[in-house]
Amino acid sequence: MLSSNYSNRLFGRTRGRSKKKINLKKYYETVDKYKFQHFNEETEYILDIGTGYGETSIFLAKQFPDKVIISCEKYIDGNIILLKNIENNKIKNILLHNGNVYEVLERANKKYFKLVWIFFPDPWPKNRHAKRRLITSDFLIKLHKILKENSEILIATDSKIYLRFILNSIYNCKEFFLWLNQSKMNLHIKDYYDIETKYYKKAINSQRKPSLFILRKI
Ligand SMILES: C[S@@+](CC[C@H](N)C(=O)[O-])C[C@H]1O[C@@H](n2cnc3c(N)ncnc32)[C@H](O)[C@@H]1O
Repeated sequence: MLSSNYSNRLFGRTRGRSKKKINLKKYYETVDKYKFQHFNEETEYILDIGTGYGETSIFLAKQFPDKVIISCEKYIDGNIILLKNIENNKIKNILLHNGNVYEVLERANKKYFKLVWIFFPDPWPKNRHAKRRLITSDFLIKLHKILKENSEILIATDSKIYLRFILNSIYNCKEFFLWLNQSKMNLHIKDYYDIETKYYKKAINSQRKPSLFILRKI
């Protein structure tokens, strides 16, 4: 059972603004086919948090065919696109958690993860919403516990406010992670990975430069 701490509550939309009719029965039947249920001792996992329309999960599944991607997202319109792409591409190594990443973390009693991706987490730019931000030092330390040795966390953001907040969170847990690209913060995401997500494109179209943090577990 998920403990009710403010920081692990889910905020934001589960449906798109278009209010396009969705056959929820069919949706949950498809979710069930790909649903993350429990960890398997023999498997190495990648955690993809807040996947939106699922571009990162499809990318990771193709890039790492020997790993299982756990895609966490509660946004139904996005998950429908992800599920369609899983089926169209005949992808076998994505499991979906249609909900809060904290529910997955609470089930991880071992170091199951080789990699964690967090692409454009909601910045919650207003001061009064700051408590809703996902990336905090407590959250990073939680991830540290479930990461295998030398594993990495990638975080992308295009929000100046969130950038400062993330920097502060990294500083507060500096004994847990090495910030690998500290001297190269201005490098483009495309210098590392050929991936474009909805929020990446939004940032580029609005002339906001996304920053990428790469942290390695110490
Ligand atoms: C700004 S969107 C970014 C989507 C996508 N990664 C991209 O780059 O286009 C952030 C997403 O994170 C999801 N999210 C926020 N908190 C979450 C949580 N605790 N667990 C799972 N997903 C979460 C939201 O539903 C939202 O779809």
